[in-house]
Amino acid sequence: MIAVVILISGRGSNMASLLAAVDADSLPVRIVGVLANRPEAAGLETAATYGVPTRVVDHRAFSEREDFDAALAEAIDGFEPDLVVLAGFMRILGDVFVRHYHGRLINIHPSLLPTFPGLHTHRRALDEGVRIHGCTVHFVTPDLDHGPIIVQAAVPVLDGDDESTLAARVLAQEHRVYPLAVRWLAEGRLRLTEGRVVLNLPQDGADALISPRAAGA
Ligand code: GRF
Repeated sequence: MIAVVILISGRGSNMASLLAAVDADSLPVRIVGVLANRPEAAGLETAATYGVPTRVVDHRAFSEREDFDAALAEAIDGFEPDLVVLAGFMRILGDVFVRHYHGRLINIHPSLLPTFPGLHTHRRALDEGVRIHGCTVHFVTPDLDHGPIIVQAAVPVLDGDDESTLAARVLAQEHRVYPLAVRWLAEGRLRLTEGRVVLNLPQDGADALISPRAAGA
């Protein structure tokens, strides 16, 4: 089974969805460690309740970003992971770090990339009036929020939505697709070719999400 390290900065609900999937025997990986860049990250306690070792590398202790990245990499490599999973990790990682984990570093982003890279994705989706929004799991490259896409989930944007209702709708899908992406990686179903992901999976093009669609129509 592949060994996985998860990096968090806060609440850690995506991390929890992965831990729960492992517990339910639907995700064949070993989560060997959880790291946070803030000691107050609430997800650290959740990880501990699952018996997963945790560590903190506090970014505030470093004046240079490269020094933080190096300390973080050292802490991660101490767990000897095959895969590093960013789950709400709110620090930008430098090129040296990202290249060190080439092909084994993934992130979840709360938009349908390549639209809305960066912060405040739900607010920006509402401001633009898009009718479909969602989330993306992708490999991390030095180009922020632009790495090869593994899986996306789309949700409708409803007229009554505000930032928090939309965020909650997207988050529910994040909790579905992240365990899925990690499972495909663990099962060796992904290949990176010319900057794109090729999936060794039966695929189905039958469904479309049409939004808006009147209830019951
Ligand atoms: C998620 O929406 C994730 O996509 C984004 O930050 C949020 C983290 O939430 N990168 P959580 O800490 O996993 O609950």
